[in-house]
Amino acid sequence: MAGWIHMVTARTPTNIAVIKYWGKRDESLILPVNDSISVTLDPEHLCTTTTVAVSPGFDQDRMWLNGKEISLSGGRYQNCLREIRARAEDFEDNERGIKIAKQDWQKLRVHIASYNNFPTAAGLASSAAGFACLVFALAKLMNAKEDPSQLSAIARQGSGSACRSLYGGFVKWIMGKEENGSDSLAVQLVDENHWDDLVIIIAVVSSRQKETSSTTGMRDTVETSMLLQHRAKVEVVPKRIVKMEEAIQNHDFSSFAQLTCSDSNQFHAVCLDTCPPIFYMNDTSHRIISCIEKWNRSEESPQVAYTFDAGPNAVLIARNRKTAALLLQRMLYFFPPSADTDMSSYVLGDKSILKDAGIQGINDVDALPPPPEMKDKVPAQRNGGEVSYFICTRPGRGPLLLSEADESLALLDHSTGLPK
Ligand code: DP6
Repeated sequence: MAGWIHMVTARTPTNIAVIKYWGKRDESLILPVNDSISVTLDPEHLCTTTTVAVSPGFDQDRMWLNGKEISLSGGRYQNCLREIRARAEDFEDNERGIKIAKQDWQKLRVHIASYNNFPTAAGLASSAAGFACLVFALAKLMNAKEDPSQLSAIARQGSGSACRSLYGGFVKWIMGKEENGSDSLAVQLVDENHWDDLVIIIAVVSSRQKETSSTTGMRDTVETSMLLQHRAKVEVVPKRIVKMEEAIQNHDFSSFAQLTCSDSNQFHAVCLDTCPPIFYMNDTSHRIISCIEKWNRSEESPQVAYTFDAGPNAVLIARNRKTAALLLQRMLYFFPPSADTDMSSYVLGDKSILKDAGIQGINDVDALPPPPEMKDKVPAQRNGGEVSYFICTRPGRGPLLLSEADESLALLDHSTGLPK
């Protein structure tokens, strides 16, 4: 390896939309037909870690995702690399004798290694965290001085939802008006401490079906769905955006839950209105919705909000820890683990919720009584094996630069620039 290697490692969260982005008005710049709002998930449980390295010894841009080399030739990667290179600044490390002038960045090649701390196959938004992390890490490496909003407009060109992962807490992606996309970017509404009562439980639903990608799905929707046009009108999404911002500012869980559930359901209705129709939710997803709806109706005000992206997994947002424990009891009652699964691999993330729910082992799950709102009804069906596992998490922080000094965190080797 000729010469020095300069590298940076960063960690970026994933996010889940509570008002959905679905449909582009510009395919190549990735400009949406409406604003969207998301909550950032705690990177401790769901995040992407990316190391980016530069060296005069590298002869081409290369990337490894979860240890496997992938092609960078796609337009989305190229757009992100080009935009960051265009904003690169002089870099100097006197100690190591590294000096990179602004214009040198165009000629220097990069190596990128990225790793998700959650299974990619689970259908959780990996592209959001992935592109956000790539852009954030490259910007640090190349000493670009852009703020998170400006970086979000670059990450957006990798994957739309990625722009919302440049911030923690609750984030709004403003659709913008400009044709060149310069005003289509993310802003933080509140940070992760503003509404820290919230607990998020993700049900990773077993699925055999190969899902339609968001990109192709929303392209078909834009071309064929009348309902999408109705959705983008002032009285639907724009109004919901205003109400959602108010609900978040005021910690108004009832309004938050009502808007979140309605918007998820409308997004899936729009998918059904697409020709050919797109089915992202399955029977298990529908059973989860029924369970939450029944429970919410039996209480004075909603306890839990549900939302589903382009797949059958449920993201359930509970108003506080107490509700989250009750939610987990209900989920485990209806969806116990299959016989060969042990509890420690069935409930992941913040396992203290399991303790709050009074569940230590499978015997406690077997002994769970039916939820009170089920009383006097036909005996409930318990559907073992329909859920692969649960992840307990919470709203979380934005991107983080991991210590440049701590070589152990880097995914690339300091002497070869290749994956460790
Ligand atoms: C259902 O951001 O994955 O998750 O911009 O084509 O990469 P591209 O699509 P992507 O779409 C996400 C859609 C969604 C809703 C949302 O996150 O707002």
